[in-house]
Amino acid sequence: MATGEIEILVEHLEILNPSKTQLPFPIRQFIKAKESLRMQYRYLDLRFPEMQRNLRIRSKVLMRMREFLINKCNFVDIETPTLFRRTPGGAQEFIVPTRNPGKFYSLVQSPQQFKQLLMVGGIDRYFQIARCYRDEAGRMDRQPEFTQLDIEMSFVDRESIMMLTEDLLVESWLEELGEISTPFEQMRYDDAMELYGTDKPDARLPYKLQNVTDIVKTSIALTTKTGIEYNDNFGAYAVVFPKESKNFSNSTKAQFDDISKREFPQAKLLQVKITESSWKSGLTTLLSKDVVDSIENRLNLHNGDMLFLSVGQKPDVQEVLGKLLILYTNILESKGVTLRAPGFKWLWIVDFPLFSKEDNENGIRTTHHPFTQPHPEDLHLLATDPLKVRGLHYDLVSNGWEIGGGSIRIHNSLLQKQVLEILGIDTCQMSHLLEALDSGAPPHGGIALGLDRYIAMLCNATSIRDVIAFPKSMEGRDAMSGAPIQISDEDKKLYHIRTPAD
Ligand code: AMO
Repeated sequence: MATGEIEILVEHLEILNPSKTQLPFPIRQFIKAKESLRMQYRYLDLRFPEMQRNLRIRSKVLMRMREFLINKCNFVDIETPTLFRRTPGGAQEFIVPTRNPGKFYSLVQSPQQFKQLLMVGGIDRYFQIARCYRDEAGRMDRQPEFTQLDIEMSFVDRESIMMLTEDLLVESWLEELGEISTPFEQMRYDDAMELYGTDKPDARLPYKLQNVTDIVKTSIALTTKTGIEYNDNFGAYAVVFPKESKNFSNSTKAQFDDISKREFPQAKLLQVKITESSWKSGLTTLLSKDVVDSIENRLNLHNGDMLFLSVGQKPDVQEVLGKLLILYTNILESKGVTLRAPGFKWLWIVDFPLFSKEDNENGIRTTHHPFTQPHPEDLHLLATDPLKVRGLHYDLVSNGWEIGGGSIRIHNSLLQKQVLEILGIDTCQMSHLLEALDSGAPPHGGIALGLDRYIAMLCNATSIRDVIAFPKSMEGRDAMSGAPIQISDEDKKLYHIRTPAD
């Protein structure tokens, strides 16, 4: 037809299978059903053009990744088991009962140990599109089962894995997504915390944290009024949104105060609209007038600016401001203010601490997993001051999403044993790996990309559930079949299970 549409004249029509006229929701873009209903009838939800587009993009990108790794780089695609024994020191794993009383499998949280064992086995370039399981609460970017593009190589260093990953993304990039340029910027973990208050910065943001510790430290009033001590860990940071106080409402203030008190109890938050006259009085209750004047000068504050100031223990101070930086940007953008730069801003975060503080017997946990190689320059601190040791770990971050993470591994069994002992992990649990490392394991390292997150970002989706054909609900359930469900008495008997109701 003149419009470009095609008119069909039907000669013969046979209905292969009639559809109910009353479906749970109509497949019309403008009247989208609630997420719970869409998940319950996911096979209908998949008919929306958005879901069709997302799943096709996923398929196309994965094909290009496979082609690049196998055809151009000689990688071998190898499947590894998902039924395994528990890996200590990581995420909470799902337990699988067996017919053998008191004996359980764990579902793998990633193929980490297997890919290292493949290196010992002489498969020097491995990859797999691997299903992983972690028993953790659902979030927009988190599911109890998810998919990784998992990679491992022998005889590599940090830089070569980063380069391979960048090439992989460039080769599998879709033209319609615009530019991707390499190499990606590298940022030290300490700098990411200092500037963005998070280890996954959104580098599209125009504003950052500003360190005013040196100014605030001169204020005696703060200590006397709040009891906050100026110890080595003290920090005072600010975030300023120039000319953006008009959208700051009382409900936003209450919401931010609540976040600060609940999640970051070691930081005190001050939220101040900079107005011509009275704004300083909000600060001079805690800080001396000289200190407030210095802050005004340092931050170049003007009428109409919005100031968030936090003081207290540095990690909490940085993290609360990192969170508010994102939240207030989102609020402003929802009101039509454009703040984030367009496109994708890629970052490698490096020089993470190998261990982090934890309230357990050892007072320490691994920042990533127990197989990460300590930074060679910090090895001498391992026994004496482990919290100061950096790891040869790297995270790939884009637009505030942690897309992937990897590291150079420990390939020496004595060093591996030492790290397990520092973490308080029973080395008998890991004797299979220690023995393998003792069998001439080559130096090796790798990375895993969270494919659901990566594809969600490419599709501009707000949740990874929009790029997974049959996702779990936020509560970790399958809304369509109702799983997890109760099992029969026969099954319970077979697997030696007794539940409270029995
Ligand atoms: P890590 O635990 O950092 O590393 O996981 C790698 C990437 O997987 C994604 N991811 C998730 N995606 C959706 N839902 C989840 N629950 C979830 N958890 C993680 C993230 C993350 O960056 N074995 C190591 C990798 C290695 O060292 O090579 C590992 O699993 O995008």
